[in-house]
Amino acid sequence: MHISVIGCGYLGAVHAAGLAAFGHDVVGIDVDADKVARLAAGQAPFFEPGLADLLAAATGSLRFTTDLEAAAGCTVHFVCVGTPQLPGENAADVSHVEAAVEMLVPYLRPGDVVVGKSTVPVGTAEALLAELRGACPGVTLVWNPEFLREGHAVQDTLHPDRLVVGLAEDGDADHARAVLREVYARPIAGGVPVIETDLATAQLVKAAANSFLATKISFINAMAEVCEASGGDVVQLAAAIGHDARIGQQFLRAGLGFGGGCLPKDIRAFMARAGELGADQALAFLREVDAINLRRRVRMVDLARAECHGSIVGRRIAILGAAFKPDSDDVRDSPALSVAAQMSLQGAEVVVTDPQAIDNARRRWPDLKYAFTAEEAATGADLVLLLTEWREYVDLDPHELGALVQRRRVLDGRNALDPARWRAAGWTYRALGRPLTEARSS
Ligand code: UDX
Repeated sequence: MHISVIGCGYLGAVHAAGLAAFGHDVVGIDVDADKVARLAAGQAPFFEPGLADLLAAATGSLRFTTDLEAAAGCTVHFVCVGTPQLPGENAADVSHVEAAVEMLVPYLRPGDVVVGKSTVPVGTAEALLAELRGACPGVTLVWNPEFLREGHAVQDTLHPDRLVVGLAEDGDADHARAVLREVYARPIAGGVPVIETDLATAQLVKAAANSFLATKISFINAMAEVCEASGGDVVQLAAAIGHDARIGQQFLRAGLGFGGGCLPKDIRAFMARAGELGADQALAFLREVDAINLRRRVRMVDLARAECHGSIVGRRIAILGAAFKPDSDDVRDSPALSVAAQMSLQGAEVVVTDPQAIDNARRRWPDLKYAFTAEEAATGADLVLLLTEWREYVDLDPHELGALVQRRRVLDGRNALDPARWRAAGWTYRALGRPLTEARSS
């Protein structure tokens, strides 16, 4: 099939390469000339394990351009542009999605299918479909939300857990259904389940999935707060409740909480939309989910201050991690950078390091100091904070790092280090949601 993909960010670039891997002829279109040039040269414009290999494998059936006219002749058009949070509001900015569909119109022909993948407030697809019907009769729209995780995006694209296809209830549904089944013939043949829904449900599935994940993280972080107040150990608690198959072990890692370009803004946009629909009470709990999440960042700074005997002014603080999570260079709403910035504003001498995200971090927070390695960041440090659990930080040798720091004090913001190992190397180890006494949490 000839397919266009509009928007080549974290979602669109991987999706375009994935579609090529499924055997289609794909053109990725983006307004960012630099990004397009890099993709066209087979380079991933952001850190995503496996993406460069996927791009290399697709040579011949995948191209990238800034020219929307390249969509002409394609029969399926995926919309993968961003829906960021509106400044000063909870609601999502869907103007990029609206603009993408509007700009596609001159290149659409009867029988074409426009496929929305971006995360949008429920009701957006219905409005876009109404416009499309007016502007180009015979063209239909389906909603096919993405669920890919950064750092696992290639795997999640090639082997998704499920495919959700939201179809308009009209005469075009059978055609659209057949087209989507052809697009995803490869994964469907591999056994991936397809859930066909109406348009509203498809948009809601994504908001519901991310809300559930965010709630699970904030639940365990709320338990961490109670553990801190009572002397309990949230790591043991999570392991114990996770043995119940109904609860499960995943997404129960207590720590600094969630960030990134999706979870925080998606739960806020969901609340905002529910408010517009008169269903705000139903999602009032998400306000608490958000608040618990943001409180963890404040708690981390408080813990650091306590470790420095009441003041971080002038203290050299090494921060390991800038990305919102490991295996990504994405710093959007990064908890690590939020803590780094708060500490810097409060007078600490903060040095941040990250294996992949320094350039992005520097663009967003140019006033912070950066180091290229953990060793460089830790040299002379009064306190070391692990805020993004990159494998190489978890594997650090506490003896070797201990030789570089001023004081052997580490705060584990992700409950990722082995307390016994660090304590045995002479470090004072503290973590969110764990007892302060050494014997009980080691
Ligand atoms: C998320 C969803 O997982 C994905 O399905 C959706 O399509 C986009 O949003 P992503 O933003 O890549 O994906 O990150 P995810 O792996 O879900 O992690 C989100 C945040 O939660 C990270 O900051 C991570 O550090 C944090 N997290 C995750 C925890 O604090 N504890 C956990 O147990 C798991």
